[in-house]
Amino acid sequence: MMMRSITALLLFSFLLIVTGDKHSLLYLYTMESKTSDYHLYDCTAVTLLNDRQIDFYNSSSDKPRTAKQNWLKNISEPDWKTSTEKLQYDTQLLNMLLDIQMDESGHSQSDGHVLQWRHGCEQSSDGSLTVLNSINEFGYDGEDLIQFNCTSKTWITPEEKKNREREEKKNREREEKKNREREEENREREEKNREREEEKNREREEKKNREREEKWNKYFNASKKCVQCEEILEMYLKYKTTDITQSHSEYLDAFIVIVLSPLLYCSNKNLI
Ligand SMILES: *[C@@H]1O[C@H](CO)[C@@H](O)[C@H](O)[C@H]1NC(C)=O
Ligand SMILES: *[C@@H]1O[C@H](CO)[C@@H](O)[C@H](O)[C@H]1NC(C)=O
Ligand SMILES: *[C@@H]1O[C@H](CO)[C@@H](O)[C@H](O)[C@H]1NC(C)=O
Ligand SMILES: *[C@@H]1O[C@H](CO)[C@@H](O)[C@H](O)[C@H]1NC(C)=O
Repeated sequence: MMMRSITALLLFSFLLIVTGDKHSLLYLYTMESKTSDYHLYDCTAVTLLNDRQIDFYNSSSDKPRTAKQNWLKNISEPDWKTSTEKLQYDTQLLNMLLDIQMDESGHSQSDGHVLQWRHGCEQSSDGSLTVLNSINEFGYDGEDLIQFNCTSKTWITPEEKKNREREEKKNREREEKKNREREEENREREEKNREREEEKNREREEKKNREREEKWNKYFNASKKCVQCEEILEMYLKYKTTDITQSHSEYLDAFIVIVLSPLLYCSNKNLI
């Protein structure tokens, strides 16, 4: 009886691992304007595969890219080249985007400004490599700047996101108010004036946001980056090293220790 439930649990844990399995690739770029000559900025980047760092990139170093895992030192030459060239090419793009952003903010490069880019994708690995999730987010001087939604293929700024949420909230409240009595007519009139004012401000802000999105769209093909992330993730997953797949065995080990060992202990006691 006990043995049967253990078998069932093992089977269950196996199913859990197979169906819940996923792989992720995440790039973290940081570009700084401070230590630059002639608008060529320092860029550093790390790549994380399944949440583990696999390399370090420093555009101003003599040897820009170093592997942080043994299997990566051993990948095919074309694959190493493809994945390194991506970092180099992205550095050029970020360099241009940082110039554009400093210009928009009226900043000068000598003050030292920072552009960060989080860019990644996640796939289920049930053989189909379905894309589960993608990230494409920029930050400037520590603040959210703009992000791209790889599914809807649209840009959004943090202000727009906030406005959209505020608009939804306001519509909800307006709806609720309509249902209430009409005693507050005077106050409503005042509020309408205020809302009109806010509307004007919002329109101004929206125009600014749209302009930023158009500008970024012009210089940066974000859709392409979403696709590229998936391609490189698939490329890395060809290398079925224990380093990549370790997360499952860790999971399984933890499962056995936490869930199964008390059961095994009990069944041993029953035998005695
Ligand atoms: C990148 O390389 C340059 C030149 O070797 C060095 O001065 C700088 O400290 C490095 N940056 C990081 C974060 O390692
Ligand atoms: C590196 O590749 C060689 C040849 O394909 C293989 O024999 C070796 O086991 C690999 N080493 C690692 C650490 O993956
Ligand atoms: C991205 O767009 C899709 C489709 O419009 C939407 O379902 C999803 O919630 C969006 N993701 C984020 C993070 O806003
Ligand atoms: C952006 O990249 C996508 C995917 O690679 C491509 O289909 C599209 O034509 C590109 N758009 C522009 C404007 O270059």
